[in-house]
Amino acid sequence: MKLIICENYDEMSARAAELIKKQINEKPTSVLGLATGSTPVGMYSRLVTMYNNKEVDFSGVRSVNLDEYYPLSAEDEQSYRYFMNKNLFDHVNIGKNNTHVPNGLAKDPEKEGKEYDDMIASLGGVDIQVIGIGQNGHIGFNEPDTSLIYGTHLVKLTENTIQVNSRFFDSEDKVPRYAMTMGIGSIMEADKLLLLISGASKHKALMALLDDKIDTNVPATMIKLHHNATVICDKDAYNG
Ligand code: PGA
Repeated sequence: MKLIICENYDEMSARAAELIKKQINEKPTSVLGLATGSTPVGMYSRLVTMYNNKEVDFSGVRSVNLDEYYPLSAEDEQSYRYFMNKNLFDHVNIGKNNTHVPNGLAKDPEKEGKEYDDMIASLGGVDIQVIGIGQNGHIGFNEPDTSLIYGTHLVKLTENTIQVNSRFFDSEDKVPRYAMTMGIGSIMEADKLLLLISGASKHKALMALLDDKIDTNVPATMIKLHHNATVICDKDAYNG
């Protein structure tokens, strides 16, 4: 696992955007694994600027997102599909049909999970997977537990996640209690992982990545097993 410590959020976002640009320029049909939340917003905004400056072309790019609230419609302003359109897809030349986010209204979540993993395989797998991390160490919505699930699945969110994510909603009771998430196995199958960590609230989770333990109660520690994982953090996250 490679660790890059940046001065601040802006530098972290710029470094991450450079790596995505490089990936697309080297392989214009790349499959990008994408994440939502506050952390990657700066990276997306830089990618939009790069696109406007003709430094990168998304016309051949395919994307798969890590997760989606359940039950929630793609049209809902709180949905991760809405987030992705607003922060990236609406501003670059990616084909919307080439972008994939788990269906937050799937009637049969188990079937949806399997189909999502099959769809990723049919694209040839993920070239680079961007990941954020929860204060509790979750990646995607793989919450701390005694065991972790391999494939895309329905998950019950922990109280901590509901509380932390309530900042995006009118009130805590509006936060969906479930989500569809790529599993730890689906994430680990990506060729490269890019984990972004910003802010003092993530210090504890980051420190768990820097010791030599793998702990399902801190799901992000699984990435220590990956052959090509890069963590980009800012000093606030590193110093706490
Ligand atoms: P955040 O979320 O970027 O909004 O902190 C990350 C996560 O919970 O995975």
